[in-house]
Amino acid sequence: MFEQLQRINQRPEPFSVYTAEELWNDPYTSQQMLTYHLNEEVALASRTRKTIEGSVAWLQTRFGLNSDTVIADFGCGPGLYTTRFAQTGAQVTGIDFSAKSIRYAQDVARREALKINYQQQNYLEFESPQQFDLITMIMCDFCALSPQQRAQLLRVFHKQLKDEGSLLLDVASLVGYAQRQEQAIYEFRQLNGFWSANDYYGFVNTFKYDDVKVILDKYSLFEAGRSRVIYNWLQYYNLPSLTDEFERNGFVISETYADVTGAPYREDGEEIAVVVNKRV
Ligand SMILES: C[S@@+](CC[C@H](N)C(=O)[O-])C[C@H]1O[C@@H](n2cnc3c(N)ncnc32)[C@H](O)[C@@H]1O
Repeated sequence: MFEQLQRINQRPEPFSVYTAEELWNDPYTSQQMLTYHLNEEVALASRTRKTIEGSVAWLQTRFGLNSDTVIADFGCGPGLYTTRFAQTGAQVTGIDFSAKSIRYAQDVARREALKINYQQQNYLEFESPQQFDLITMIMCDFCALSPQQRAQLLRVFHKQLKDEGSLLLDVASLVGYAQRQEQAIYEFRQLNGFWSANDYYGFVNTFKYDDVKVILDKYSLFEAGRSRVIYNWLQYYNLPSLTDEFERNGFVISETYADVTGAPYREDGEEIAVVVNKRV
């Protein structure tokens, strides 16, 4: 028991374990996630309907979306953005490794007679003969990746973006970092049954890594016959650190916003949204 508790409370090296695929593809948990995505009133897995509509309206104006625009949405989930992009007439690709979310998105596209190219795969390995006018990655997914994975993804973006194309993404800011505390909690059926239909015990250890501005929420989950640990990493940025990361990878930030609805950038915002272009 003591050793088990030591393992639960052990602080790993930043980004040393990647469990995103288990999180997003576990049959039970991914169904729970899908339910959260589709809940239009809460901003847990996706933003609220109102915010999504605000984003798409702004993107449509800002990037002049029409039938000539070729868009890819990385981590598209159940297609809340891709569906709306396609409704503008744009040619849309959605990439996500969650089988449940992609299936849902494909059903919506079929029902609404929208031609959307959905790819169920790890976006770090995405390759296509097509190049895009616009690549989106929304809901701070970029922050869940390690520095090496982010560099890999930026290579994918660089290759898949047209020279004059734009990348739009959002990240968590240092304002959000400052608001979080380290903690260790233990709860029966932690998150109200989110992790399993069976009875289970969940430990949540939150670790802050001040030198690199990363937070880990480490979920150690125990039920009869099954135990697992899910690592939720989040990299936090300020404008200089974000600028530096893009510049090191061949991009420049050309516009900054408070969020992906195009609201004006604020120093005290919990997120930063940027439009990024290839450095030429
Ligand atoms: C927080 S959700 C956001 C979904 C969508 N962008 C939205 O805002 O509605 C993150 C999505 O990224 C997907 N995802 C995470 N890591 C991925 C990876 N390495 N490859 C492909 N999809 C990934 C998950 O399956 C999930 O659908």
